[in-house]
Amino acid sequence: MKNIKEVFAPSNIAILKYWGKVNGQYPLNPSISFSLKRSLTKMKYSFTKRSDQEIQLTNFLFDGQENLEFKNKISHKIKNIFKNRQIPFGIDLDIYTENTFPHSSGIASSASSMAALSKVLSEIFAITTRDEQSSLAREFSGSASRSLINGWSLWGKTQSLEKSSQEYAIDITTTVHPMFHFLQDWIFVCSKSAKEVSSSEGHQRMQQHPFREVRLKNVQKRVLNFLELLEVAPSNDFFDLLEIEALELHGLMMTSNPPVLLFEANSIALMKKISKLRQDGVMCGYTLDAGSSVHLLFAKSQLLKMQQLFKENYFGIIGQDFVDTIMDECSLC
Ligand code: PMV
Repeated sequence: MKNIKEVFAPSNIAILKYWGKVNGQYPLNPSISFSLKRSLTKMKYSFTKRSDQEIQLTNFLFDGQENLEFKNKISHKIKNIFKNRQIPFGIDLDIYTENTFPHSSGIASSASSMAALSKVLSEIFAITTRDEQSSLAREFSGSASRSLINGWSLWGKTQSLEKSSQEYAIDITTTVHPMFHFLQDWIFVCSKSAKEVSSSEGHQRMQQHPFREVRLKNVQKRVLNFLELLEVAPSNDFFDLLEIEALELHGLMMTSNPPVLLFEANSIALMKKISKLRQDGVMCGYTLDAGSSVHLLFAKSQLLKMQQLFKENYFGIIGQDFVDTIMDECSLC
C-alpha cells in the first residue's frame, strides 16, 4: 500500500499586481498580496522511488477526474524546473488535487495549486526552508510564491524593503496594521466563461508594452505608498490606491498589442457601486486580477453593514446581475 499524504495551500489576492516578467520567472515589479482563508487547494500525493533521477507524473486526478491537459502541463513544468536541480532520487508521483472554490471564479487557482505542488515536492525532496519553497513555487507560477505565506506577503525586489527578494516572497504581516489581518474579500463572479487570455500571455505582452517604463515608475512609488498605508488602519487612501492599481493593470491589458478587454458590463456596474459606497462613507474598495471577477475588500468592522447591503441586493442579484459570490477573508482571520 502506498503512503498517501496531503498538503493544503491558499490562493491569494494581490493589492499591488505582478505584471510582466524579466529573466524567465522573475517579476518585472514587486507585488503585495494576502493569502485567503477558505479558497484552498487540497493536494493528496503518493510516490515510489525510481532507480534513475526522473520525476514521472504517473497519475494525476483533478476533482476526481483524469485531466490530461493539466497533467501534461504540470509534468512538463516539473521536468523543466528540476532539470537543473540535484535530487537525491527519482520518483513516480501520483497526485489527486481539488480546490475548495469553483473553477474560473476569479480566484487564482494557479497560485494555490502551484504552491501546493511545491509543498508536495518540498516534502519529498526535503526542501525545508520557506524561502526555498516559495522560490520553487515561483518557478511554477509567480503569484504562487506568495501563497507559501500565511497572511501578508511581498514578492520582488524593492528599495522600500531591504529584505525583499526577486527569488521568493517575504512575510510582511508584522508590519501590517492588525485590522488588515481581518480584511474581507467578497468575490463577485461576473462571467461563466474562462478568461480568454492566460496570465503568461499577459506577462509576455509587457515586454514591448508602450507604457512599460511608466508602469515601472508608478510601481516604484506605489510599493512605498502601499507599505505606509498598510501600517495604519484601513483608510480611504488605501482603497483609492487599491482601485487605481487594479484599473492600471486592466489599462495595461487594454493598451497591449493585441489589446485585451476583460471587464464585463456587470464588472463595471459593480465597480461603480463599490466606489459609490466609499464616497457615501463605507470603507471599502475593489480590486481585480486578470479577469472579470470583482473582489470587494473591506475591514471586518464593516461586515454587518455589507451583509445588510447584500441582503438588500445593493450589489445586484445572484444569477441575474452576477454569476456567483464567494465570501472569503484574509487567512489570518
Ligand atoms: O502567477 P501568474 O503568472 O498567474 O500571474 C498572476 C498575475 C495577477 O494575478 C494578475 C497579479 C498577481 O500579482 O497575482
